[in-house]
Amino acid sequence: MIEITDLHKAFGMNTVLQGVDLKVETGSSTVIIGGSGTGKSVLLKCILGLVHPDRGTILLDGEDVTRAERDAFLAKFGMLFQGGALFDSMPVWQNVAFRLLRGSLKRPVADAREIAIEKLRRVGLSPDVAGKFPAELSGGMQKRVGLARAIAADPQVIFFDEPTTGLDPIMAGVINALIREIVVEMGATAMTITHDMTSVRAIADRVAMLHGGLIRWEGPVSKMDNGDDAYLQQFITGAADGPIEAVR
Ligand SMILES: Nc1ncnc2c1ncn2[C@@H]1O[C@H](COP(=O)(O)OP(=O)(O)OP(=O)(O)O)[C@@H](O)[C@H]1O
Ligand SMILES: [Mg+2]
Repeated sequence: MIEITDLHKAFGMNTVLQGVDLKVETGSSTVIIGGSGTGKSVLLKCILGLVHPDRGTILLDGEDVTRAERDAFLAKFGMLFQGGALFDSMPVWQNVAFRLLRGSLKRPVADAREIAIEKLRRVGLSPDVAGKFPAELSGGMQKRVGLARAIAADPQVIFFDEPTTGLDPIMAGVINALIREIVVEMGATAMTITHDMTSVRAIADRVAMLHGGLIRWEGPVSKMDNGDDAYLQQFITGAADGPIEAVR
């Protein structure tokens, strides 16, 4: 579904991605792990075309993403942004239904609202949240609204950037189960970034670790614990001592 080859991206002197290679199979769930600031969010933004890579290619279904027609390309995706990125001037339901109220996916307003309420329910939010504004919600509720928006248009490919950060353990479990369900039942292809190792084990078919601008380790989640890479082992055990510098 997604094939990334030799991807490079620097911001001025800050070289972030330095030759990333990664393949993501259709209908699979890939989790990207790695330290803070290693370029995980930048990687997802490169695929979506929100950040322009300096070098390398990204193919979606065999087609170069930089050549794809933008509207049709983006209609395939859903994205949960790390910071939520809700529109604060719009009530919750309009945030969730954003894609369904305009462009090629446009539907009648009443239908869009109904779908928004159904998606809110899937992320554990009751219908009375629909008419509220983002500022009236807690951080974890805002995160779940972002999730509901990401899945609103039943996309083929879904990116989740830190879906469980800031959620209580029970709600994190609900969201992990939801992500699994979207992949298994809807056949979507998912790429998730997380620091939460419980989440990795719950969500991932495959795990890829980004460090030093490269994918240091990639493999099935079942092989992660015995993966023979010192960086990977330090990361998954959370050890203070190891090859990864704690000061960045
Ligand atoms: N738009 C931008 N302009 C300049 N630098 C950027 C931009 N976006 C990201 N960076 C830089 O790229 C590096 C990687 O950022 P990124 O957000 O991808 O990290 P991350 O791996 O997602 O970290 P975290 O786990 O903390 O979310 C950082 O050094 C960051 O400062
Ligand atoms: Mg990030």
